[in-house]
Amino acid sequence: TTHEEPKDVHWSFEGPVGKFDTEQLQRGYKVYREVCSACHAMNLMYFRNLGQKGGPFYDPKYPNSNENPYVKSLAKDIQVPDIDSETGDVIHRPATPADKFPSPFPNEPAARASNGGALPPDLSVIAKAREGGPAYVYSILTGFGPPPKGLTVPPGKYYNPFMPGDLTSFWTGPKDKVPEGGFIAMPPPLAPGKVTFDDGKPSTVAQQADDVAAFLMWAAEPKMEERKQFGLGAMIYLLIFTGLLYASYRRIWRNVA
Ligand code: HEM
Repeated sequence: TTHEEPKDVHWSFEGPVGKFDTEQLQRGYKVYREVCSACHAMNLMYFRNLGQKGGPFYDPKYPNSNENPYVKSLAKDIQVPDIDSETGDVIHRPATPADKFPSPFPNEPAARASNGGALPPDLSVIAKAREGGPAYVYSILTGFGPPPKGLTVPPGKYYNPFMPGDLTSFWTGPKDKVPEGGFIAMPPPLAPGKVTFDDGKPSTVAQQADDVAAFLMWAAEPKMEERKQFGLGAMIYLLIFTGLLYASYRRIWRNVA
């Protein structure tokens, strides 16, 4: 299969001391909540994670994020399935920080039935699971466009040059000019102004894609900042240790001919 290389995107969390941009994570959560969560689950995420250290809505006044009032209010906006303790019926109630993000569909057949047979993948770790990481997510989201002339797009599918695939059998143009990329069963989910950012950031497709990709990166690796800080400390320690070791080696063997 072929596909175009992900776009060259730059984020605050790159490099050995990179950190997530809190405001970006907040915008990214809003994009996930208002757009992606209609089709994609994030089964590994709990609302309380949003208020944990390093998370988008962390508040040092509430080290226990279950008590963070803003996280509580975000959770309360979302209905989650539960079982009525008296009747045993399946009910829906507002979420609390202790709840998981609810899935948009009750099961896989239902998810496929609503998406023309395709399964929207769980997004919990997608930013680490796919080659290209968050840049791949960004590229898919911003990569939709009219298909090249000569390409027959099947119904319910969309051409995306960043989606791995093989378009040979859908191509009527020159044999050596088969376009890169593939078909994806996801309609272009973003549009200008689709999400209103609370910090006033202009809501372009590129901005929405950038922010949701960053949010998904945080979700996939919430301890990235800690890992990088520890790694840097370990490198400094090893460097000092190397110097000490060398100095004592010189000293011990000083008088040996
Ligand atoms: C696939 C992200 C919104 C339905 C994908 C993939 C990504 C993604 C990265 C490709 C996964 C892969 O490599 O396998 C997102 C994000 C969204 C969003 C970040 C919000 C901004 C939606 C919405 C729908 C949807 C609203 C439903 C209307 C699907 C489906 C697939 C898919 C059905 C599977 C496509 C296939 O296998 O051909 N999504 N998505 N997505 N998405 Fe979305």
